[in-house]
This record gives sequence, structure tokens and C-alpha cells, in this order.
Amino acid sequence: MSKTVNGFSKLSKNEKIDWLIENFFGNSSKSKEILKQYWNDTKEIQDLHDDFIENTISNYYLPFGIAPNFVINGKDYTIPMAIEESSVVAAAALVAKFWSSRGGFKAEVISTVKIGQVHFMFEGDKEELQQYFDLKKEDLLKSTENITKNMRKRGGGILAIELRDKTAELNNYYQLHVSFETVDSMGANFINSCLEAIAKEFENDEIIVVMSILSNYVPECLVRAEVSCKVEDLYVENSEFLAQKFVQAVQIANVEPHRAVTHNKGIMNGIDAVVIATGNDFRAIEACVHAYASKDGRYKSLSNASIEDGIFKFWIEIPLALGTVGGLTSLHPLSKLAMQMLGKPSARELMQIIAVAGLAQNFAALRALTTTGIQKGHMKMHLTNIIKGLGASEADKEFLINYFQNKTVTHNAVVEAYNNLRK
Ligand code: MEV
Repeated sequence: MSKTVNGFSKLSKNEKIDWLIENFFGNSSKSKEILKQYWNDTKEIQDLHDDFIENTISNYYLPFGIAPNFVINGKDYTIPMAIEESSVVAAAALVAKFWSSRGGFKAEVISTVKIGQVHFMFEGDKEELQQYFDLKKEDLLKSTENITKNMRKRGGGILAIELRDKTAELNNYYQLHVSFETVDSMGANFINSCLEAIAKEFENDEIIVVMSILSNYVPECLVRAEVSCKVEDLYVENSEFLAQKFVQAVQIANVEPHRAVTHNKGIMNGIDAVVIATGNDFRAIEACVHAYASKDGRYKSLSNASIEDGIFKFWIEIPLALGTVGGLTSLHPLSKLAMQMLGKPSARELMQIIAVAGLAQNFAALRALTTTGIQKGHMKMHLTNIIKGLGASEADKEFLINYFQNKTVTHNAVVEAYNNLRK
């Protein structure tokens, strides 16, 4: 049985599934049924999903949840989140409520510059290259005029083109480093089209263009989110001691990369969930954020915390290249609803909302870790899932939840307690 196939993309969806079932699932009709169960009954929706990617055979759902009660810069938000991990949405909702009675979140966009590069090789004289660039610069901009016309009308476009000498890192390697403002679009297609036009105009017999592509590293597309309150308002009891522990937890993530990765993963639980719900590119966001976390030469915490003059402050500064128009944002019906729920934000406003979602998630994790521990909440969820799996009645469920309040939850212990109850 061969598992390689020619002309696969030309097969119909059913034929693709049949090939898969025959080659991987022993012709099991159950596997085919599962794939088909996830098809959407509304043809229009299914066609849309079929066309998002290539060789679509089914849909892969993520739960779409909402976290209400966020107050950001004095405005109320209900934040949409698409994520499969339990407790993330609950934590967001809890923390939103908590901070809504302590002044809410403050957020500000620091800068919105995006970057693209034309990477090229040149063996000749550096000064001659510089002269050629200086001479050509206007033509390079002109070559993009058709592409940038609409963007310029919206207040965006090319901000600068620089020639960068990278020969110290790699023989003969130079680049045109181009800065862009893409306003409300993420701008990937726009940037790449401009770069290809620039490269074509710049190329000559001596300049060998290797590639032209946007950079997903955007340290100057930066947003900051913050919360603060009096230390005594942070916890019901022992506030000073616990606030100190919270700050220490952030300090540990700043000096210990093993902890920093988990710490930042918690932040990304919030960020990715909103990025996905709003139809943005979470791979671009992830790649950028982690590079940014390493900008000082060591992987560090993305968030910071301090206590000064009795005030607890907790903040995050992260790069987020987002769009609120174009791409999936305008195509996926759920992303459109997500945007509507957020009040049709501009890209700048969405940067603020998403930074807040990350900070909120980090606050929830650190508060749990430095007080009760993370497992208490998780185990409650675990217990409910085991009970559900056992098919227990409502009365038995209530008994078991009470019974395990002060006991360690393991699968065996729950099954045993359930069996004893049934005896
Ligand atoms: C789990 O998805 C995220 C946490 O591990 C984050 C953290 O440890 O800060 C709870």
C-alpha cells in the first residue's frame, strides 16, 4: 500500500477523504463519519472554510468564549476568546471583575512601525553602493506609488528606506530596511508587494536580490498595559506579604529562563485566544513576542511588577502587529462578530485590548501560584471532568464534589469513591 499520491489537490473532498480512510484508517466508516460530523451544515460557511486553506477535509473547532467586565481606559469591554484550555476564560473574567473595582486597566500604544527587508548580495565597492542607493531612493519610492496610494489616503505608507551594511555578519550581505505604517491592516500583503516592487527597481547586474519579505519582528509596534492599586487593596488578608511574593514571582521570571517561558506562556494564553478570535495571525504574534522577550540577550519575563510608596503596579510592554481590516478578520463570520463585540476597534485599540488580555492572564496565574497554587482550580475542573465521564447523577456529583473538597483528586480515587457510593 503506497502512501504517496500524485495529483491529490485535484481530487474532490470526498475522494481525498476516501484516500485517507483507505491509507490510514483501514477503510473504517467511523473515521469518515467523524470527519463529516465536523462539516458545517450551512453550505456557505463550509465553502468559506474549504477555501481558507488547501486540501480541506473537515473543520477543527476551538471553543469560542467571552470574558465580560473588562474596563480599559475607562471603557467597558467584553473580550472574545478562542481557546481549548480550561480555566483561561474563567481567569480572564475573574481578573476583569477584580480590576474593574480598582480603576480598571490602563493601556497605551507606544508606536506602530512595521518592518520589511530586501536582502541582497553585492561584491563591489561599498561607497559606490551607497551612492547608487542615494541616487535611486526617489525611484524606489516611486516604484511603489500605485501600491501605496490607498494606504497613503488612510494615513499610512512607507516611512523610510535605509541601506544597511550587514557584511560584518555575512560576506557581501546588505539590505534595504524599510519602515511602514499600515494603519488598521496587519499589512503583510501590502508590505511584501512594496518590497518586491522596490527590489525590482533596485536590482542590477551587480546587485543580487536574495529575497524580499516583511519581518514579523516589530519591536517598534509596541503597546503597554498596566494595572495599579494600593497594596492593601490587593488581597483580603496579608496583603503586604502576598504583594511582595507576587513581585518576587515576576523577578524570578526575569532572571530564570525556565520560569520565564512558562510565565510568558501564561501571558500568551490570553493573547493568542483574542488574536485567534479576532482572525489575526497568532504565529506572527508568537514569533515576535518571544524574540522580544530575548532582546536583552536572555529570555525574560514580558511583564513587570513593582511596589513603591505603598502602590502595587503590574504592567506589560509587548510588540503586537495586528489588523482589524482585511484578511480573515473580514472573512470569518465569528471574527466579524468578535470585532463587533469589541466595538469595531481600530488596530491601535485592538493592540491595547490584547495586551490587557495577556496581562490579566498573567495576573491570574501569578496570584494563584503565589497563594493557593495552580492545582486547586485545575483539580476542581479535573474532578468535574472525571465525574462527567462516570455518568454520575446530579446528586452523586454534588456528593463527590463535597467529598473531595479536602482530598487529593486522582482518577482512581474518584472512581473508587463513586463505586463506594453506588454500593
Ligand atoms: C498554564 O497554561 C499557564 C501557567 O503555567 C502560567 C504560569 O505558570 O504563569 C499557569
